[in-house]
Amino acid sequence: KIVPVVMAGGKGTRLWPLSRATAPKQFIKFIGDKTLFQNTLERVSDTELYEAPVVVTNEEFRFLVAEQARLLDIPLAAILLEPVARNTAAAVAAAAATVSALHGRDAIMHIMASDHEITADDTYFDCIRSARDAALSGKLVTFGIAPAEPATGYGYIEIGEKLEKSDAHRVKRFVEKPPLETAEQMVAKGGFYWNSGMFMFPLAQLIEDMRQHAPEVLEAANEATANAAHDLDFTRLDSEAFARSPDISIDYAIMEKTANAAVIPTPIKWSDLGSWDSIWKLGTQDRDGNVASKNATLVDTRNSLVMSDDIHVAVQGLEDVAVIASEDAVYVGRLKDSQQVGTLVKLLASKP
Ligand code: GDD
Ligand code: MG
Repeated sequence: KIVPVVMAGGKGTRLWPLSRATAPKQFIKFIGDKTLFQNTLERVSDTELYEAPVVVTNEEFRFLVAEQARLLDIPLAAILLEPVARNTAAAVAAAAATVSALHGRDAIMHIMASDHEITADDTYFDCIRSARDAALSGKLVTFGIAPAEPATGYGYIEIGEKLEKSDAHRVKRFVEKPPLETAEQMVAKGGFYWNSGMFMFPLAQLIEDMRQHAPEVLEAANEATANAAHDLDFTRLDSEAFARSPDISIDYAIMEKTANAAVIPTPIKWSDLGSWDSIWKLGTQDRDGNVASKNATLVDTRNSLVMSDDIHVAVQGLEDVAVIASEDAVYVGRLKDSQQVGTLVKLLASKP
């Protein structure tokens, strides 16, 4: 069976002010009655296909994780707590050490982001099974999404020849978050996919690749796991050891460098709910192209996103904007500047 590993330690700053330091986007209900993290857990709840999930998160989010899993009645195998954020390479390495102890070196891990909107239909599960089979033959498997535009916030995968007796293809090259010009060239040329941010990894090969390409991450995560403190449902990674890991994502640390990558073209409905423009695109737009929550009134306004947690918001005479109100903060900006909200939040954080 596959061991699910859910990465839920990101800060989601581009969705400020609904995504906050105390409750980032994965723990929020954007669409429907469950949070993105809960939807992620439900996709791995088939116990014939999956073992109990391992969740890797930040110390600060431990109660959100435990409570949201409990509400679904989904038992977790472990909740790993990072004392400081060291990005996804370290999170994956710590999960690998834990999975190795629980299930041995032959385990297959399904690494997942917790901030994606995915329709888990038959096609999706067919791709999961194909990925598992490719991982069993030693490949680090990625899921390729057909690119809709030259977005710069994603990894790009150039597809190579098909592997024998497999639905997976070799990866010619993996380029994480290219500049716009490069992204445009790749989309125009064709043969490139977006990296979905999910991976199917054979544990032994992952560790081998980490030893080769990211030995400092591996060492820090191994030591932090070996010296972890166990407290009720939580596994507290040793802070001194974990802090020694370089701050690098799995994409830069491993996927750009490995010679063992494969890709499964994955024709599913997929969206990284990363910024306000992606929420607007995914939402149900009215005749004027607006996506608005119930407590909003729009007059002479077009192609805009208006969301409010609580207070009533009225917008008049604007186009292509995001107006987002939470209990104690309001954001107004152009939808096309959505990628830059993170920069603004950094500025806010530096204010007294
Ligand atoms: N535990 C833990 N610790 N989780 C983390 C950390 C961390 O330090 N940092 C991020 N995460 C979690 C986030 O919560 C998210 O679920 C997932 O890891 C991915 O992190 P993002 O920060 O959202 O990555 P990204 O969107 O910029 O890029 C990745 O996803 C893209 C698709 O959405 C890459 O894999 C790209 O190649 C990919 O295209
Ligand atoms: Mg993301």
